[in-house]
Amino acid sequence: MANRITVDGTTPDLDGPAEAIRNGQLVVFPTETVYGLGANALDSAAVQRIFQAKGRPASNPLIVHVADIDQARRLAVHWPETAQLLTERFWPGPLTIVLRKSSYVPNAVTAGGATVALRCPGHSVALQLVRESGVPIAAPSANLSGYLSPTQVAHLAPEIVAAAAWIVDGGPCHGGIESTVLDLESNPPAILRHGLIRSKVLGEALGIDLQHGPPRNEDPPRSPGLLLRHYAPSCPVALVESGTDPDAVLDRMSLHRYSKVAYLMVHRAEAPQPAIRLVAMPDNPELYARVLYDTLHQIDAERFDVIVVEMPPDTSEWNAIRDRLQRASIR
Ligand code: TXA
Ligand code: MG
Repeated sequence: MANRITVDGTTPDLDGPAEAIRNGQLVVFPTETVYGLGANALDSAAVQRIFQAKGRPASNPLIVHVADIDQARRLAVHWPETAQLLTERFWPGPLTIVLRKSSYVPNAVTAGGATVALRCPGHSVALQLVRESGVPIAAPSANLSGYLSPTQVAHLAPEIVAAAAWIVDGGPCHGGIESTVLDLESNPPAILRHGLIRSKVLGEALGIDLQHGPPRNEDPPRSPGLLLRHYAPSCPVALVESGTDPDAVLDRMSLHRYSKVAYLMVHRAEAPQPAIRLVAMPDNPELYARVLYDTLHQIDAERFDVIVVEMPPDTSEWNAIRDRLQRASIR
């Protein structure tokens, strides 16, 4: 069972977790997006343990967390101007860039691929852990493969807790959804996953339009994680566009008025039927992101028959949220 440390505002003592990383063990740690399950990115055996613990398909590559631009540069074969510009501006922070990997990066990390995803986390504890361990840290979200990402230690699955040598508890993650993944090898650069940094903002920094996001149904997929059902709770999730009757979806799913239904609504003040659970979601993308996974984790723990979600508007500022909701609804 994992050792635990709770960190507060001051500089925590991360000697134990940092040593565990150097020894090839797994550490759960907070970031500004979601909790990560980390291992020494330069140690193939350690990286394999991440795949095992999560039940993650070996074809899905991991993000490597670095302390700074210098460390990132050693992991890529080249460092284009776009990388310099974006990392100076957005690191440390929730931007992940994809570049051709250097020979330092084991194939286990990149799922045998020629590129590596790099991110310098904007959370003081995550940064301190990468610095103190002295190696780059490969870390996916600390959930079982396909399931919702954890934004608090309370969300961790027992299998993850059992697999970790250390759990560093930094309280709730401020951002609440994952980093934005940007492919800098394609010309022009392309968003592979919408995330906490808006595509519009990245596009403006590069002087190009990035808002269209990842192309669907590419074969082979440029980012394997993208085509899977993902970020999903155990209960079915049904999406309704704003302004349509949320109960029509229940008929389609052969559920009835006595089913245990949770509604996540942005605009509706009262439950549409004598039910059950109505969660008023924030009408603002940042605040919505911060509470989304925690809300779904809580509802999931209570075993509802279905979660009916009113989709936020189809505008670019809501891209990442709509993306996560869509993936959560695929069964
Ligand atoms: O916010 C985050 O990014 C969190 C925290 C822990 O840093 N991490 C995270 O990792 O979300 P993960 O493994 O759950 O998601 C990584 C995504 C996957 O969709 C994966 O396919 C994609 O990034 N990815 C990783 N390496 C890639 C590469 N070389 N090329 C394309 N996509 C890649
Ligand atoms: Mg994940």
